[in-house]
Amino acid sequence: MVDLRSDTLTQPTPEMRRAIADAEVGDEQKREDPTVIALEERAAELLGQEEAVFLPTATMANQIALRTLTEPGDEVLAEEMAHVFRYELGGPAVHSGLVMKSLRTANGIFTAEDVRESVNPPGDLHTAPTRLVCIENTHNGGGGRVWPLAHLREVVAEARQHGLSVHLDGARLMNAAVASGTPAADYGREFDTVTLCLSKGLGCPLGALLAGSAETIERAWREKHLFGGAMRQAGIVAAAGVYALDHHVDRLSDDHARARRLAEGWHAAGLPVDLDQVETNFVQLGVGALGLGRDEALARLREAGVGLSSTIHPSVIRAVTHLDVDDDAIDRAIALAPEALGARVAV
Ligand SMILES: Cc1ncc(COP(=O)(O)O)c(C=O)c1O
Repeated sequence: MVDLRSDTLTQPTPEMRRAIADAEVGDEQKREDPTVIALEERAAELLGQEEAVFLPTATMANQIALRTLTEPGDEVLAEEMAHVFRYELGGPAVHSGLVMKSLRTANGIFTAEDVRESVNPPGDLHTAPTRLVCIENTHNGGGGRVWPLAHLREVVAEARQHGLSVHLDGARLMNAAVASGTPAADYGREFDTVTLCLSKGLGCPLGALLAGSAETIERAWREKHLFGGAMRQAGIVAAAGVYALDHHVDRLSDDHARARRLAEGWHAAGLPVDLDQVETNFVQLGVGALGLGRDEALARLREAGVGLSSTIHPSVIRAVTHLDVDDDAIDRAIALAPEALGARVAV
């Protein structure tokens, strides 16, 4: 099986497992775990922020960011396919009493004008005060798209003009940084809070970081305890994070090159791939154009030995490249998928 369902599927490499086995550990809840502290310091610098806090998942990091930056009854702006809006079980309402206003885009990347038009009038006693804008980079639902830094700065500047806070769901920020050649810190320092996930392209078994100012992260620590995310000898997993930051960042360009080769191979074989959309490690297939529904397309591919997964769109499925997908796997996927899906090359 060529497993292209998600970049969360990676197994820790033997070297990462050795780093885990050798980790120095302490009581993380008492802030005495040297490996967690080392990872937090590395992450804060990498993300252009003063401090970072280690958390089990990126969902928890996002939800803690929202709780830290808002008051119950506030409104949050996020793109309509954003993870924080669509895939966190209504967490903003449950954990923080927030109203979400979604911004509709084709690829996950909204504009300063979208923000301007969406902010509720300040002081209006009939609408929830708009307090926070969330940006996702790369944008998962948009097909792994990268926010160009200049565009992102315009959107953040617009948000600031309205007195709003800004959160970056940078679960895959390192993919964005590597693909665009923009240092992650240049993206990160624009924001009040930044989430970075370790268990996606970076290949760790689990873990995420939330970075921000010293004051913001001190408040986030309270939420970490409240969410039950304060751990004990967590250096066991933080060691994987330190290893990944040393060894698994630059290699993301291999994942991106493989996604591009896969997209080009499938496109040449007549599969409906929009090559312009392929910027990082995601390839989207519009199987509706082949007269197939999502479930049937996924079943046929699985039968042929290629694992893809669904997207938010009923007729679009996706392939995601990652650490455990090598060049041979890409060759096999290029060979197997077109026949399984009944692709026809245009003549
Ligand atoms: C953009 C984005 N943010 C956050 C998350 C949540 O990550 P986790 O599974 O670590 O909670 C995901 C997971 O796929 C994601 O794609």
